[in-house]
Amino acid sequence: MRNGRGETRRVGARELREVVSGIQGEVQFDAPLSDFTSFRIGGPADALVIPADVADLSRLVRQARTAKIPIFVIGGTNLLVRDGGIRGIVVSLAKLTAIRDEPHGVIYAEGGVGMPTLMRHAISRSLGGLEWAAGIPGTVAGCVVMNAGTRLGEMKDSVKAVRVVEPTGAIQDCQASDIPFSYRRALLPRGIVVGVWLQLKPASREKLQHVVKDYLRYRKETQPLTLPSAGCVFKNPAAGAAGQLIEAVGLKGAQIGDAQVSDKHANFIVNRGHARAADVIALIKKVGRTVEEQTGVTLELELKIVGQP
Ligand code: EPU
Repeated sequence: MRNGRGETRRVGARELREVVSGIQGEVQFDAPLSDFTSFRIGGPADALVIPADVADLSRLVRQARTAKIPIFVIGGTNLLVRDGGIRGIVVSLAKLTAIRDEPHGVIYAEGGVGMPTLMRHAISRSLGGLEWAAGIPGTVAGCVVMNAGTRLGEMKDSVKAVRVVEPTGAIQDCQASDIPFSYRRALLPRGIVVGVWLQLKPASREKLQHVVKDYLRYRKETQPLTLPSAGCVFKNPAAGAAGQLIEAVGLKGAQIGDAQVSDKHANFIVNRGHARAADVIALIKKVGRTVEEQTGVTLELELKIVGQP
């Protein structure tokens, strides 16, 4: 059901209108996905739906399944949507933003909550464990799906359980001990992550605030946070850092169209204005090829590329 890749058939307007009938949230047809990605790049979705709540999403999932129309959930960061856009229905969790405190250091967050918002909420309750997420633009659901993290920590360190809307529309809760997590990967049950329970640790609020401040300063100094990007493009190889290798082969500042290897951090590609996905992909290929030829290291993508060329 997560279909950003395979489906090429443009779904007809009548078919789409039937599938979204009765949906309480927002619906847009032929919606430019550049408005929904941190890269500010991406062609249109046949339909973009922002469900009002989890029940609304369940209904959409059931109706789409009956009509055999694929659904792709867009977090919008760590993502490159190609210029032809995404066929079928694209779902944004932007209205699933509730946060609930539970006993014993547990917080439940709906999937559309921004990670930095959740981190600030946790710190306001003197709960630590999410400081790594300072300045990360992703949603809670997106961060679980890819086990997001930085050198300070990662999602799997705090996840207690995950709530998923299954392909049938049923809601299932899954304990973290049943989810195999690895570097930037989580093997979740099929479906859409709509909420996460996090087990956090009591800590001094001032100390947590201090850690976050230092870390944000480090990121501002070393990363191009003021230009649209999708964060790090490549995973770090087993030894060393991708950014270091890309700088070593002389590609800082390399540009194709409006896509540029950041001159601040070489593992970022930034959109200098009107970059197309095709420009970014050409630049990614150039970087991968050059690093492989000159260092022998094969870089693996961290960024997900979806949609039609
Ligand atoms: N470096 C260079 N040139 C560059 C960039 C980096 O030589 O252009 C060197 C640095 O000097 C340092 C090493 O590479 O010696 C590592 O750099 P940095 O501390 O910036 O961390 P990173 O390994 O490049 C990782 C995460 C980032 C995260 C930072 C900070 C990955 C692939 N990247 O980057 O995550 O923000 O640590 O914690 O795991 C992301 O996931 O989107 C992302 C940006």
